[in-house]
Amino acid sequence: MQSDPALLASFLLLLPLVLLGQPQLVRSTLNSMDESGTFQCVVHLPNNSIFLQQLELLQSTLQDLIGKYEQQLSRAKEYAYITEDQDSRTLELSHMLDSRNPGVTESQSDNPAFNLLRLQLERAQELAAQLQTKAGVSGAMELIHQLQNQIINASLVLKLLADSDYQSFRTLQEEVDVLEGRLSECEREKEQEQSSRYTGPPLAPGSCTHGGLQKVGRPLVLKLNWRGLQYKAGAWGRDSAPNPSSSLYWVSPLRADGRYFDYYRLHKSYDDLVLLKHYEQWKMGYGDGSGNTVYKNFMYFNYYGTRDMAKVDLSSNTLVLRRSLPGATYNNRFSYAAVPWTTLDFAGDEKGLWVLYATEESKGNLVISRLNDSTLEVEQTWYTSQYKPALSGAFMACGVLYALRSLSTRQEEIFYAYDTSTSQEYRLSIRLDKMLETLHGINYCPWDHKLYVYNDGFLINYDLTFLTLQEKLPNSPIKKPSGTSALSKPGKPARPPGQETP
Ligand SMILES: *[C@@H]1O[C@H](CO)[C@@H](O)[C@H](O)[C@H]1NC(C)=O
Ligand SMILES: *[C@@H]1O[C@H](CO)[C@@H](O)[C@H](O)[C@H]1NC(C)=O
Ligand SMILES: *[C@@H]1O[C@H](CO)[C@@H](O)[C@H](O)[C@H]1NC(C)=O
Repeated sequence: MQSDPALLASFLLLLPLVLLGQPQLVRSTLNSMDESGTFQCVVHLPNNSIFLQQLELLQSTLQDLIGKYEQQLSRAKEYAYITEDQDSRTLELSHMLDSRNPGVTESQSDNPAFNLLRLQLERAQELAAQLQTKAGVSGAMELIHQLQNQIINASLVLKLLADSDYQSFRTLQEEVDVLEGRLSECEREKEQEQSSRYTGPPLAPGSCTHGGLQKVGRPLVLKLNWRGLQYKAGAWGRDSAPNPSSSLYWVSPLRADGRYFDYYRLHKSYDDLVLLKHYEQWKMGYGDGSGNTVYKNFMYFNYYGTRDMAKVDLSSNTLVLRRSLPGATYNNRFSYAAVPWTTLDFAGDEKGLWVLYATEESKGNLVISRLNDSTLEVEQTWYTSQYKPALSGAFMACGVLYALRSLSTRQEEIFYAYDTSTSQEYRLSIRLDKMLETLHGINYCPWDHKLYVYNDGFLINYDLTFLTLQEKLPNSPIKKPSGTSALSKPGKPARPPGQETP
């Protein structure tokens, strides 16, 4: 696993949220660090074996991350000590602290140590502000926000301490040192991360000016779905319109039978979703499976027990359209592997609304149709060479279909792509980790270039990284355009890659 403090930070920040949302699951205390620099984490596991497996998984990931975190911290501390040794003013300060006289009542604001501390805090504040403007990753943003709050807090405490004793002053000094260490560490990693990521100009929201998918980031676990652990099947996501008028998040756990889609919730912002503050809950009650998606404030799904596509207006929960998808198999015929009832899988991307399915004529191979989103008429259809029940899922991005397969209970691979603009298909190998075994609804959002995945009841997402146009390798399709379904044995990736594997 690569060292990635931004993700680590967001994981550590989000974990308490996950746990808070599930008080019946686990009680947890996450103490940051004691004086000896030991990172402490106490997790009390409940007595209920049903959850142990899931918790074990979370815990081992956490342990792994904590290990990384400790390394970073100790490096930061070393750095701080070296700086301290070289800093004569600091020596002066220690000397002064050692020879302090408890009887002194003069104002601290006149003493040099106090001023040094104030300067350090100001510097830390500036650094945090700079970092904030540079941060592109939401996880890093959160860490920086948190650091900023701590710095502001420390500044306030400093003011209060202006006339108080040296002991708390010394404690504060230590806190400031640690904060500074974390900040410089964060800054350094941020720079490294930026230099190793997408090297072109920042990819604008909704933009397709890139050379195709390069990499999928680590999974970020947001929380359990609101209905609970037994609701293992479902989908969630963000409105996949390329230029949405609002940031609408939706969550739709299927009934515990893994088939019937009856309730969904809408959240107007990410914070609302994570903190469960505001939501609208609707009962709809005629959907089949987890192939639904939201595009331009409408939800599209498979009407229960039919080959019909259905469209619901999310501002009123009204079914506005129902239309048959010609030739599509239904009632669990040619679902994705390990994800029953995914016969019609809707997808939204920069290029529009799509439906992924299979027909008897295609012999179960995946078929892509672009839909007119107002009438649900099929505008155009492409035939892939991939047997749909052999895939674990698929999504569209910039008019390219990306198909996944399971490598193990912990890893998936995006192994196949079909570009609808050229009707060419490619082999690739982009791996992604998963928390639990089965990825249910997989939805892409063009606005933030993220994948939203429902992972056995948990809501997780992934950052996608794209090749720049310059990096794009010459197209070397694995076969001629659509029509035949014969595909030679999986060979070398046709588009060798930045698509490195861990
Ligand atoms: C587990 O639960 C049982 C009954 O609910 C209880 O008697 C037992 O003490 C618990 N064990 C632990 C380690 O908490
Ligand atoms: C701010 O300082 C107070 C007093 O030390 C402390 O109780 C509180 O938790 C601090 N808040 C943050 C965000 O660090
Ligand atoms: C969708 O169909 C309607 C009615 O036929 C048509 O007016 C509209 O232009 C179509 N939309 C697109 C994007 O083709």
